[in-house]
Amino acid sequence: MQSLQPVINGEEPDNIFVYGKTGVGKTAVTEYLTNELSQSASHYDIDLSILTISCKGANTSYQTAIRLVNERRSSDEQLSQAGHAEWKVYDALWEELDALGGTILIVLDEIDNIRDDELLYQLSRARSENNITECKLGVIGISNDLTYRDRLNAEVRSSLGEKTVFFPPYDANELRDVLQRRANLAFQDGALAPGVLQLCAAFGAKDSGDARKAITLLRESGDLARNENADQVTEDHVERARETVETEEVVEGIGENLSENEQLTLYALATLTAQSATPARTRRVYERYTQLANAAGREPVSNRRIRDFLAELESMNIVQQQQQSGGTNGNYNEHEIVHDVDDVLRGLTEVLEAVGVHDSVTQHVTFHGGGDGDTFTTGTNTTS
Ligand SMILES: Nc1ncnc2c1ncn2[C@@H]1O[C@H](COP(=O)(O)OP(=O)(O)OP(=O)(O)O)[C@@H](O)[C@H]1O
Ligand SMILES: [Mg+2]
Repeated sequence: MQSLQPVINGEEPDNIFVYGKTGVGKTAVTEYLTNELSQSASHYDIDLSILTISCKGANTSYQTAIRLVNERRSSDEQLSQAGHAEWKVYDALWEELDALGGTILIVLDEIDNIRDDELLYQLSRARSENNITECKLGVIGISNDLTYRDRLNAEVRSSLGEKTVFFPPYDANELRDVLQRRANLAFQDGALAPGVLQLCAAFGAKDSGDARKAITLLRESGDLARNENADQVTEDHVERARETVETEEVVEGIGENLSENEQLTLYALATLTAQSATPARTRRVYERYTQLANAAGREPVSNRRIRDFLAELESMNIVQQQQQSGGTNGNYNEHEIVHDVDDVLRGLTEVLEAVGVHDSVTQHVTFHGGGDGDTFTTGTNTTS
């Protein structure tokens, strides 16, 4: 609120950088406060416009600038996604902003999707460079990548001169409040057994203070109770819904957070699981990984890297490893997947499409992706 106050004073707005982990209310609170601000502005007769853009899927400044222009243009005047000289896009943007006039706040949500600094650089200098003359401009950047700001070019950082607002994770009490208000709207009186909200809040608070997680769990618990025609949502529903939510998190995490080689490593272990060959020694996983990488036309990485990947997969709770003693060369590790192999394969969809479906897992894979759908074999004889 402090950072937004200059708008009401008719001064040049501050640039603001909002950051914090996922689900801690950055988007929700920014929306809430900019709405409040709009109301105060109209009360004080201040000409204020808020332009909010999600940068999701816009990987460059160029694409985001086009989105901003299009946000202001009617449907028959939209800029196409590509094929313009960069300066023309910025010229169009300045023209739109000046035409709008007054004070303009540009909210760039999920700004960390933009890989280059150009847009921030341009926006922060637009007024001093006289690119805009008819409006005052402020930028609110929102990011869940805590390192994003530090990665900006020093020149951009200095011309932005922004205020940073850090959103800490919610604790369980705060999450309970958030959930309580949702519950009042979404559930009949008495539909939630005592303890249900606490349990959902504790789950959200556990590792990251994530409100989205807590809300999702409450919703899933409610769905489960309704599907079972239960009179009440109970702690037991929450416990079971939690398993579903956690599994879905793992499935999504595989596709989103793992590199291709990590996915191939996991795929290797999944095929071994399907062949009942797990727990499997590192060497055996490496062998299968090499076969899969070759099938995908990729240069396999070293055995040592695979060991690192397996340790990483363990730290993400996807795989567990156990040290066994007494091999020919001393101790050795054995690995196995801690989830249902079908769930893991769901997370690996993209890699499966690229590599093909290994014959060991054909019964487990129900989708027919964009690939040619061929299955292939790498041989099942083990050498260990
Ligand atoms: N203080 C709050 N009061 C009510 N609802 C909240 C509050 N904070 C967060 N929420 C709700 O929690 C969910 C996640 O919040 P939000 O989308 O703002 O997170 P975020 O910090 O923007 O996350 P991300 O970095 O993933 O975009 C939303 O459904 C939002 O409405
Ligand atoms: Mg958000």
